Amino acid sequence: TGGGSDEAKRRAGERAAEAVEDGSVVGLGTGSTTAFAIEAIGRAIDDGLEVRGIPTSFQSRQLAIDCDIPLTSLDEVLRVDLAIDGADQVSEAGDLIKGGGAAQTREKLVAAAADRFVVVADPSKLSARLERSVPIEVVPDAHTVVAKRVRELEPAGEPTLREASQKDGPVVTDNGNLMLDCEFGSITDPETLATQLSNVPGVVEHGLFVGMADAVYVGTDDGLEVRRF
Ligand code: A5P
Repeated sequence: TGGGSDEAKRRAGERAAEAVEDGSVVGLGTGSTTAFAIEAIGRAIDDGLEVRGIPTSFQSRQLAIDCDIPLTSLDEVLRVDLAIDGADQVSEAGDLIKGGGAAQTREKLVAAAADRFVVVADPSKLSARLERSVPIEVVPDAHTVVAKRVRELEPAGEPTLREASQKDGPVVTDNGNLMLDCEFGSITDPETLATQLSNVPGVVEHGLFVGMADAVYVGTDDGLEVRRF
């Protein structure tokens, strides 16, 4: 959940929730920062706001239900007015690494269907370049061959199968797939890497979100910085 304070995350999440308009469809992202936005949307609904939410994960669906947010699906509405989601890392160019919660496939679907995609973050997520490991959702049968292909890329990645624990075994995504966390060092060309990863058979979706964010709300302990892209 990153190193940011709850106060910073709350500020980012609640300010993003203020951008939700009456009658709209809102994408509900995953993670502790977006949770503040979902809770704020729930309170606004109590006060009369009418919106429908599209959750991006099991967790955000559960939280939305707890907050009495009426839900819909991309199948039904095809498009989203505003998607709000967190990120594991945000570069100066506004590119993202996501998937720390193994939810990047649905997160990317919802963000891509959105007129506006607002990222909520705290300063611990900011980095000049993307340099965290890139989460990749893979079809279970393909995890070994995808790992091999990742090692052969230029630049080469170092993949690790994500495990809940030694005892529980691998993390299984909401889609029944596995996760490879791939270390590429500092990523100088995210767009090219994103294309390379998408082209590997067996990759369901990777966590590089290049050129997708319209704005990043960076909450701090005493304020909010909005970056627009
Ligand atoms: C989920 O797969 C990720 O993309 C999350 O959006 C990310 O991990 C953000 O979570 P926090 O707000 O808890 O850091």
